[in-house]
Amino acid sequence: MDLSNSSALITGGASGLGAATARALAAAGSFVVIGDVDDERGQRLATELGGAFAHCDITNTEDVVSAIATATDKAPLRAVVNCAGIAWVQRTIGRDGSYASAHDIDAFRRIVEVNLVGTYNVVRLAATAMSTNDPDAQGQRGAMVLTASIAAEEGQIGQAAYAASKGGLVSLTVPLARDLAVVGIRVNTIAPGLFDTPIYGEGPASEEFKDRLASSVLFPKRLGHSEEFAGLVLETLRNDYLNAATLRLDAGVRLGPK
Ligand SMILES: NC(=O)c1ccc[n+]([C@@H]2O[C@H](COP(=O)([O-])OP(=O)(O)OC[C@H]3O[C@@H](n4cnc5c(N)ncnc54)[C@H](O)[C@@H]3O)[C@@H](O)[C@H]2O)c1
Repeated sequence: MDLSNSSALITGGASGLGAATARALAAAGSFVVIGDVDDERGQRLATELGGAFAHCDITNTEDVVSAIATATDKAPLRAVVNCAGIAWVQRTIGRDGSYASAHDIDAFRRIVEVNLVGTYNVVRLAATAMSTNDPDAQGQRGAMVLTASIAAEEGQIGQAAYAASKGGLVSLTVPLARDLAVVGIRVNTIAPGLFDTPIYGEGPASEEFKDRLASSVLFPKRLGHSEEFAGLVLETLRNDYLNAATLRLDAGVRLGPK
């Protein structure tokens, strides 16, 4: 798919994997709309890239519709990359046998609400807008990327909520691609391994944590660079024969229980 003369919406585009994707899409000629709850960083990057920022909590339908309008006002929306997501670590049961120490159920709901329901909210609304695009020569109107995680298959101790939310995205991929094939929209999911982004926090403790994570990677033995994720996103959007797939991007790492 040709990415020029069209707009692209990147949720979670203010930071990490989403920010690198916004940079790559802008370099490829798309008008980028960064949809994020981080107004300051989102606005700064949008200005740098000559794109637009839309304050957008992906769980809020009004926000999402308005972010889509920001894109379609400029050019047809042909690419949507869902990077917005949050993490949570807590074991299912506590150590003292009390019900109060069991996994915080509101936290579980929140993780699923943002990562799974929020992503679906963006997809259903953005696909509706895309369905009105003029088709290209082979009937294609757009393409979307969801961002899962290898935790969908190998969730570690304490990752029940996060892994369930990402597993939901993996399971969504095929039915979404089937629903949207009729209007010529492709849907693929990338399941990243361990990438060096602000999701792991900042400071000496998080650097030490990231070093430990890197030692578990098969080859190359390091965390991934956000640009490596963005490169696969671009290929996924451009390659017309790639549809309904979940692609691991993880340098061969397989996560152990902890
Ligand atoms: N970094 C990794 O190792 C890794 C691995 C696997 C999967 N992922 C997934 O990749 C995606 C991007 O992660 P990242 O590492 O770049 O994290 P990040 O924290 O750097 O970026 C996430 C962005 O999402 C935004 N966001 C959070 N909640 C939002 C909401 N409700 N609406 C809109 N925006 C919201 C944040 O403000 C932030 O800008 C996430 O879905 C994450 O689960 C990351």
